[in-house]
Amino acid sequence: MEQQNVKEKPWTGRFTESTDAFVEAFTASVTFDQRLAYYDIRGSIAHARMLSEVGVLTAEEREQIVEGLESILSEIREGAFHWSIALEDVHMNIESRLVAEIGDVGKKLHTGRSRNDQVATDIRLWLRDEIDTILAELGRLQAALLTLADREAETIMPGFTHLQTAQPTTFGHHMMAWYEMLVRDQGRLRDCRKRVNVMPLGAAALAGTTFPIDRTITARLLGFDSPAENSLDAVSDRDFSIEFTAAASLVMMHLSRFSEELVLWTSDPFSFIELPDRFCTGSSIMPQKKNPDVPELVRGKSGRVYGHLVALLTLMKGQPLAYNKDNQEDKEPLFDAVDTLKGSLKVYADMMPTVVVRREQTRAAALKGFSTATDLADYLVRAGVPFRDSHEIVGKAVRYGIEEQKDLAQMSLEELQQFSEVIQQDVFEVLTLEGSVAARNHRGGTAPEQVRSAVRRAQAREAEELSGATSYQDQSY
Ligand code: ARG
Repeated sequence: MEQQNVKEKPWTGRFTESTDAFVEAFTASVTFDQRLAYYDIRGSIAHARMLSEVGVLTAEEREQIVEGLESILSEIREGAFHWSIALEDVHMNIESRLVAEIGDVGKKLHTGRSRNDQVATDIRLWLRDEIDTILAELGRLQAALLTLADREAETIMPGFTHLQTAQPTTFGHHMMAWYEMLVRDQGRLRDCRKRVNVMPLGAAALAGTTFPIDRTITARLLGFDSPAENSLDAVSDRDFSIEFTAAASLVMMHLSRFSEELVLWTSDPFSFIELPDRFCTGSSIMPQKKNPDVPELVRGKSGRVYGHLVALLTLMKGQPLAYNKDNQEDKEPLFDAVDTLKGSLKVYADMMPTVVVRREQTRAAALKGFSTATDLADYLVRAGVPFRDSHEIVGKAVRYGIEEQKDLAQMSLEELQQFSEVIQQDVFEVLTLEGSVAARNHRGGTAPEQVRSAVRRAQAREAEELSGATSYQDQSY
């Protein structure tokens, strides 16, 4: 990046001295917004096409501009483009290069637009693509969870409340709980995409333009659902970035919860699962260590995405209409939220299919902690004992079990009958772990049969959505 003389900037007409060198660097955004270059060029090409359709540019001028922009895009892609801080941002860097390349006709490109509507358009085009990539990664993780849920539909594990053993459940049911969280995330991201896909271009600086533009042409060329209704709102609105970051925060919160469980489950006292070495790291001092760094890092990264959400909300709260330079601060938090979410989803989608469930361990853990106490209470209720009394009876049996160090299923019939004489031999059917999970046999319940049908329903829904989806048509080239 180099400093340039005042004459090289496109807005120096009313200025009498050069920008202070530090101010120039302080106010520039090109170091980070060059990431939008591809979208900036796409937006410019669509704008030039529209201008020629309405007669503001001749077909020949349009062709020169489009060719010039395409060659700049190749230059950028090859890493040969020279970015200049003096030219502030991605927009002026590209425009200035265009003029250098094709001469004065390049100066006509900015007719009927401003960097204010240009930047808002670029971010939306960029974010729309990123949301599509994120949805694909999310889908990959969802598919991995469905496969795991199906495979482990019968794998008994303890279910917890307060992280205390509560009732037996299955690993498959647990994976389907994670899956449901991601279904809501998918819905939020898709919904957010609709509000991203509205076109600010044509709002110009703030009030619209005096040229006879046709915004429906540019919107169509760029694949936007519609032009934004109000020019003041169009250039200043960043709700879509906040909505996206809020949705991203929720996904990260879910991944962080998954991570917390994976960290617990890989720890020695739990030993519920094993992660392959390629997703773990060692300790430089303790030779025995194999640390679950991936889930730990994802849990840690949730914090930065929440931070970006607060940063964006705070960025917007004091801004009067319409565009303010404050808005330049929207990009870095949004970029990092996208990168963090995309990376976290990718690593999870890669890692989950490799999880090995240690079924004897999860089953052994479910045998501890009187996890079938509710089943015994329900058994007594079926034999006519009011639930509150049965709760009391089972409580006493549990206390006895703690003293004798026996689980309910390990007690003899005589021992159990001390607490209630309605207990018969068939009680052992409900005290087994398999009996306990199989009994919760209704939609949304933990029974293996229900887990499998939940997986089937989910797969059918995903397949239906895939077949019904209209794929986005890029018409800008
Ligand atoms: N770099 C600016 C941004 O990111 C582009 C818009 C600048 N507009 C202006 N009037 N200074 O927001």
